[in-house]
Amino acid sequence: MSDVLIATDSRALLDRVHAAADGACVGVHASPLPTDPAVFLGQVRRTDLPEVVVLDATHARDQALALAGSFDRLFPGVGLVLVSAPDESVMIEALRAGVRDVVPPHVTVDEMRDVLARVADTARVRRAPGSSGAQPSGTASWDPVLDASSPRRVISVLSPKGGVGKTTVATNLAVGLASAQPGSTVLVDLDLQFGDVATALGLEPESTLGDIVTHGGHQDPIALKTRLAQHPSGLLVAGAPNDPASADVVTPEHVGELLDQLTDLFQHVVIDTAAGLGAHTLAAADHTTDPLLVTSMDVPGVRGLRKELDALTELGMLTESRRIMLNFADPRAGLSLADVEATLGVRVDLTMPHSRAAVVSMNMGEPLTTRQPRDPAAKVLRRLQTLYQPASASSGRTRPRIGVKVRS
Ligand SMILES: Nc1ncnc2c1ncn2[C@@H]1O[C@H](COP(=O)(O)OP(=O)(O)OP(=O)(O)O)[C@@H](O)[C@H]1O
Ligand SMILES: [Mg+2]
Repeated sequence: MSDVLIATDSRALLDRVHAAADGACVGVHASPLPTDPAVFLGQVRRTDLPEVVVLDATHARDQALALAGSFDRLFPGVGLVLVSAPDESVMIEALRAGVRDVVPPHVTVDEMRDVLARVADTARVRRAPGSSGAQPSGTASWDPVLDASSPRRVISVLSPKGGVGKTTVATNLAVGLASAQPGSTVLVDLDLQFGDVATALGLEPESTLGDIVTHGGHQDPIALKTRLAQHPSGLLVAGAPNDPASADVVTPEHVGELLDQLTDLFQHVVIDTAAGLGAHTLAAADHTTDPLLVTSMDVPGVRGLRKELDALTELGMLTESRRIMLNFADPRAGLSLADVEATLGVRVDLTMPHSRAAVVSMNMGEPLTTRQPRDPAAKVLRRLQTLYQPASASSGRTRPRIGVKVRS
């Protein structure tokens, strides 16, 4: 039997769907229809998800389609049915919004029963472990895609100095991982005071980390997920607070709790950090499986990174799978790769060249890897992504050296 939630203002339709669902159906008014699933679910005070959501688009077609699209992105395990006169443009838009079936307003009980059974079955398959919507079996779940056979990764992008490319690396990596496995990845902007992840991705998040921690969103999985901003790649983003003063509400303890929860929900948690080892960054490092340390190719930067490596080692936070990335690699920098490695005392895993396209991409709010995929720096970023993807996950000790060649 399906567990159905229907939004309609039609008593007759509600009665028919109620009968078709053998009573396992709750109705809410369709006007006004929110476009945010959290608000919608809040109207019926649900903390779990229905198997099927039926949206009556008769009077609020655009809102119904927008809500369907949000459900499909956030909760792919929920089956969506639209009630609408079947004209071609609605059909196409419904398809794009992830709707499984469109039924006319005068649908009969028997027809509706068939539709609900079919849509619920498809939704169950999408939630089954191993499917693209891989989810725990049984009841509907709001969880995103998780691959049980590969490890969860918390990848923190760290550096002692500012301006070395952390945000560039974090955003491109996260978008790459999300595109390869939709719903798998969340990006957290822990540069709380001056974070610019949202700008780098062309997003204007309605909620930020400050809202998530102050409204208790971090304790309620559905509220948490709906407070994350959505990037077209399928990446979800926890943005930094909008102004430095608001950053104070987020404590290092909040960071730990949030990362614990996100790790339960996502295959990959990518964290962009502020320069240095502040308390929030240390809280993140404590939850990190894969530290990714970035430096620019200059003596102060490389020496700073050496100190950061030492500090993280002393704190027991430098895991085996740590990687080191040399950005702005330039054969004319007066430093060779060998010099950098000698100062660091460890090998560099990736080198990324200076790239004008990287600056333009950041300014345009679009990842370099999608805006200029053939750019040499974009190629390095894509190779970086493959190191963290389930199929090519490699242990820290045997990792290959990749990137551009830097000669002295
Ligand atoms: N390989 C590169 N070639 C050219 N420009 C780059 C490269 N990598 C990053 N940049 C540019 O350098 C600037 C700083 O990069 P980014 O913001 O990623 O660094 P950051 O370490 O996050 O800085 P902050 O510590 O201030 O947050 C940006 O304008 C970015 O576009
Ligand atoms: Mg940054």
